[in-house]
Order: sequence, then structure tokens, then C-alpha cells
Amino acid sequence: MSVPRQLKPKIYSVGAIDWDRRLFDELIPLSDGTSYNSYLIRGSEKTALIDTVDPTMTEVLLENLKHLEIEVISYVIANHAEQDHSGSLPQILDIYPDARVVCTPKCKSLLMDLLLIPENKFITVNDGERLSLGDKTLEFIHAPWVHWPETMLTYLKEDRILFTCDFLGSHLATSDLFVTDESTVYEAAKRYYAEIMMPFRKFVEKNLEKVKELKVEIIAPSHGPIHSNPDFILNAYGEWVSDEVKNEVIIPYISMHGSTKKMVDYFVGALIKRGITVKQFNLSKTDLGELAMALVDPATVVIGSPTVLFGLHPNIVCAVYLVNALKPKLKFASIIGSYGWGGKMVKQLTDMISNLKVEILEPVVVKGSPKEADFKALDRLAEEILNKHLEYGIVKKEE
Ligand code: FEO
Repeated sequence: MSVPRQLKPKIYSVGAIDWDRRLFDELIPLSDGTSYNSYLIRGSEKTALIDTVDPTMTEVLLENLKHLEIEVISYVIANHAEQDHSGSLPQILDIYPDARVVCTPKCKSLLMDLLLIPENKFITVNDGERLSLGDKTLEFIHAPWVHWPETMLTYLKEDRILFTCDFLGSHLATSDLFVTDESTVYEAAKRYYAEIMMPFRKFVEKNLEKVKELKVEIIAPSHGPIHSNPDFILNAYGEWVSDEVKNEVIIPYISMHGSTKKMVDYFVGALIKRGITVKQFNLSKTDLGELAMALVDPATVVIGSPTVLFGLHPNIVCAVYLVNALKPKLKFASIIGSYGWGGKMVKQLTDMISNLKVEILEPVVVKGSPKEADFKALDRLAEEILNKHLEYGIVKKEE
């Protein structure tokens, strides 16, 4: 599908909707597809293209430019070097040979390495630098680590539009140019934040402050629909990056023969009885994006695993590796599970979560099927979690 759409006079959306994509980076499942947004700005003197599209969708971008009868592009603004936004640059530069790629110095270096773009095609810009298109002015705001080190935002001053690339975006294929259903976009944006931005939470917080200093009427990311109500996404991000955690326990688990499942079931009940919100994820069925999204808010994670070959179940190892890499703002962690003849799951888990600033609460690992004393130990762990949440002000005493 190629249909250029107008955001405002002389400003068009010319990217592509990828309805069928179901996996990103060969890792993250995409339940609702995605889009690669690219924007064309026609100034009175110069025309600029902001970001391109994934190389699989280059034809859509080129068709859209043809529909708009664009014969000359002076600048291609590359907010981010990752190929889902830069992948069509070589073809654009072939078709529009006078175009120059405008980006941060780090982005230039990456684009030369990733896409073999010659050095003379670049103009690098400093933080706060401006570029005139005649009656329209672009201002570049360096915004490192959302989510690569070279990223920047582009602010179109006269129209108060901020082009944010991945930042504040969502993997969501929709025919709506602008956000219409905030609850759907909230979920998609939260999942995207969890998968891509959460490891850089403190950088994201700093960059959010930069955005708040601007007068922004429209936030136009390069994935998902455009925000005509910037406060909606800025407030959501504000909540996700804050140090506040919720009175919530997330339990990713696997059970091979039912012992760990019995423990998880009992433990979930023990937490609910104490007024704690619980989210339980059977990792043999859960996709990693769902797990990532669930990690944004909770105070505590409790891993449930049987012992396999003296250690954690391999699917748990994969999930714990991801939890450690995503660096959620958890405060407490523990493990429950079972073993047949011995093992070192607890040490293995503790060694694997070195990125997390968590206090490890005494685990409950039992021999075989759980017995009365083991259920009591699970009650003890649930009580300890409640007490910790109370102690840290995560739940108020009167709740
Ligand atoms: Fe959408 Fe980091 O690329």
C-alpha cells in the first residue's frame, strides 16, 4: 500500500505500514505488526525527508514520493542509524543524488559502517543546531540512548512538530495516521518502551525533560500512529521511567512435572490474600514481549523453575538473561521451585541478575512435590514480600 498522507500543509507521511511483520530483530514478537514512518517536509526553498523505511519496504516510500511528484530532496534527516529507518537511504541517495544525509557525528560513522554510504554525502549537526528549509526551520536535539548512542530528535519549529524516531513510538500497524484509541496505543507503546527503551531508563528520563522544554503540538514517531495529544504519551513515559514501583509481583515460571506449578498456584493465592497484585507467566506459552511489558511496573519478581541438569530450566535461563538485560526497576527478587536430587539454581539465578539492584529474598526450593512445610515456607515468602513492600512505602499500611 502506498498512500502519502498530509499531517499539516506541506508536511506528509510517506512511510510504510508493515501489517504482516511478526518478529523484530529476529527476537521480539510483534503481535500487531508495525510501521516505518517517514515524513516529507516541503519548505519554500528546500525539501527534507525525515527518516526512511525498512529496506523491505523501500518501494512503498519511493511510490509515495512519486505520488507527491518530489523531484528534488535536499536533505534526508537520519534521526537514527538502525536499518528499519535508514535501510532505504542508499536507494534514496541514488534517486536523489543531490540529497545530503543530516545526522549526528556518531550516526554518520554508523551509517558509513552499516550501509557503506560515502563520507561526502553527510552533513553532521551539533545539539541545538538549526537548518533552514526557507519558511520552515528544523532544530536538531541530540537524544543519546533512545535507544542507540547516536540518536537525535528533529523539531519543526514553525509547526511545533517533534519527530522522535523510535522514542515515544509503538509497534502497531494501523490505518489511523493519528492516535484514535489511546488505550490500544498505550499498551503497544508500553510494550515497545519495555523492549527497547527500558534498559536506558535514566537516559530516557533526561531526554523526556528535553522534550518537555519544547512547545510541541504533535509528536511524530517513526513507528506507530502520530500523537496529536503529546501529554498522553509524555505522561505515560513519565510514569514508566519514574522510580516508583507498584505493589505487584511478577512470576515467570516453567513446570516440567507439576511440582513447581503446585508451588506457583499456592504462592499466587498467598500473595492475593495479602492484597498484592500478581502476574503469572508460564514461559512455555508466553512471548518475551509480554514478559518485558509486565516488568515495567512491579516491585518484585519471583522466578519459578524446576531443576534441570543441576540448574535452572533453559527457558528460565533465557528469560532471566532478558530480565537482567532489560534492567527493570525491580526492588526484590526470589526463586521458588523444586529439585529431584540436588542442584544450584539459587546461585545460578543470583549470578545472572547482577544488573538488577534487587534484594534477594530467601528462596523456597523443595525436594520433589511440595509438602505442608513447603507451603508454609511459601506463606513465609509471601509475608516477607508484603512486609518489604510496606517497609519501602510501596503499599500503604491502611490498604
Ligand atoms: Fe526502529 Fe531502533 O529502530
